[in-house]
Amino acid sequence: MNPSNENELTQAVLERLSGATDPRFAQVMGSLIKHLHAFIRDVDLKPDEWMNGIQFLTAVGQACDDKRQEFILLSDTLGASMMVVMLDQARAMAKDRARLSATEATHATVQGPYYWEGAPEQPLGANIAEGVVGEPTFYSGRIFDTAGQPLKGALLDIWSGDGEGNYDMQIAGAGMAARARIRTDDEGRYWFWSIRPSYYPVPVDGPVGRMLDGMGRHPNRPGHIHMVVSATGHVPVTTHLFVANSPYLDSDAVFGVRPSLIVEYESHPAGQAPDGRVMDSTYWSAHYDFHLEPQAA
Ligand code: BEZ
Ligand code: FE
Repeated sequence: MNPSNENELTQAVLERLSGATDPRFAQVMGSLIKHLHAFIRDVDLKPDEWMNGIQFLTAVGQACDDKRQEFILLSDTLGASMMVVMLDQARAMAKDRARLSATEATHATVQGPYYWEGAPEQPLGANIAEGVVGEPTFYSGRIFDTAGQPLKGALLDIWSGDGEGNYDMQIAGAGMAARARIRTDDEGRYWFWSIRPSYYPVPVDGPVGRMLDGMGRHPNRPGHIHMVVSATGHVPVTTHLFVANSPYLDSDAVFGVRPSLIVEYESHPAGQAPDGRVMDSTYWSAHYDFHLEPQAA
């Protein structure tokens, strides 16, 4: 059928999905069409505004290369990435609740663009940020399952920016820094040294930066250290630890803060640290236990 007015148009477009062979694809596209049409009607989108939108999305695509993913940044800053992360974890947790677990799994948050696969595996207690600008911090805790059993040999794949908010990947030609993979001991314990990360802005020299500016938004993320926590037979969690009292904890540009991930960094004078290392300057410590849910059978 040919629509004779805008009221018939949405139905006409939806009917063209009748030949789709993948039902999930048809469901996703159907909902997208309905919401897109409703949005255009809601704001009564004018042709020049529609063209601006096309040009904006074109610029987002053109800003992408093998190091930069402006579409993910767009998704992050519009809260779409966190919506997907939260729904995914809520779905998994609903299954876990059916097993009457003692604890919830550690909350997940966005991965962000600075994950670099293949960080070196380092021994427990290693300083993973040797030579990196920033205040030394002793990180420790344990990894448990959601029934409270410690997970031996669980993996923390860790990365962060430096104490001034710069990631190694942002520095042309730089190798890996402040990244490592660390495995827990027989009692599920981990400990390592790194730095206390600073807040920093997401990249703003592209179309997403202009969008944030137009919205009157700042581009900053509060100080955080990233990790993917995994163990055989368990659902991995991509998460961060956020530095308590960091600026922007209440207004993360990518909506990634979850209160359960905010950690107090305790200040210590120079002297012997908990792992026996003798520090000749003040240092920080941060303690956090992670929980992973067992993989569904
Ligand atoms: C990050 O934390 O590394 C990040 C997350 C989303 C967008 C930009 C950066
Ligand atoms: Fe980050």
